[in-house]
Amino acid sequence: MTDLFDLTGAVALVTGAARGIGAAICEQLAARGAHVVAVDVADPADTVAALRAAYPDSTVQGLSVDVRERTQVEGAVAQVLERFGRLDVLVNNAGTASRSGLPGITDEEWFRDIDTNLRGTFLFCQSAQPAMQAQGSGRMINISSISGIMGGPSSGGEDEGRSGPAYAASKGGIIALTKWLAKELGTQGITVNSVAPGPIATPLTETVSYDFSQQVLPRMGRPEEIGAAVAYLASPGAGYVTGQVLRVCGGAALG
Ligand SMILES: NC(=O)c1ccc[n+]([C@@H]2O[C@H](COP(=O)([O-])OP(=O)(O)OC[C@H]3O[C@@H](n4cnc5c(N)ncnc54)[C@H](O)[C@@H]3O)[C@@H](O)[C@H]2O)c1
Repeated sequence: MTDLFDLTGAVALVTGAARGIGAAICEQLAARGAHVVAVDVADPADTVAALRAAYPDSTVQGLSVDVRERTQVEGAVAQVLERFGRLDVLVNNAGTASRSGLPGITDEEWFRDIDTNLRGTFLFCQSAQPAMQAQGSGRMINISSISGIMGGPSSGGEDEGRSGPAYAASKGGIIALTKWLAKELGTQGITVNSVAPGPIATPLTETVSYDFSQQVLPRMGRPEEIGAAVAYLASPGAGYVTGQVLRVCGGAALG
């Protein structure tokens, strides 16, 4: 029987791969046989070393890239194409989360979240599209957040770590961009989907306190639970899924 979750030989590029959810996405893709390019503005050496040790059959490469910089993004895609000759899976995961509220948020904080989360996603999708169109296949998977669906948590102040308006706007923008791209690229054989995590235990959320009283599964999620959702959307089994937002949030966002 064909394994519809097998990614053997697929070439995947994951942003924000140095730690947290991005590192877990890399691992779930490599575990299914993908070659992985781990991209981050920080040095992704730890992720690369761990993957090489655990998955010797996969080719793993690290690239230092700021997703806000067009020339760096285009250069990263060009390097992947030069080395592997194709790009099958693009995962836009790099993100920042300003926790300043309405009165206090600065232009600098606003633009950091919008540029990293939304424009970085756009730049990588735009750069990867020609190669995927030429292949006649490709998967773009954009990590949003339930903040982009719900407008952030409804309780808690910034001193409790509530993410701010720029973060919610950037993540809502990723969801709209995902649907727009899905409609644009479907006839090219490219699917575009989003995974919307709820609270996940990573360095980003280390200092944040969450109220689980309204959450069906009252716990933090694990990074590998996001990685598994991404691996599904990257897999042959998800070939008929596009323009969707898969909420991996313990039931925090229903309806
Ligand atoms: N942790 C959560 O609870 C949660 C919930 C919803 C959504 N998310 C989203 O998941 C993604 C990963 O979150 P995480 O918790 O692993 O965060 P994290 O802070 O642990 O990791 C984010 C990674 O992105 C990288 N990065 C930041 N700016 C970058 C840039 N300009 N260019 C390239 N890389 C950059 C960082 O260096 C870091 O390695 C983010 O998009 C985040 O918004 C996280």
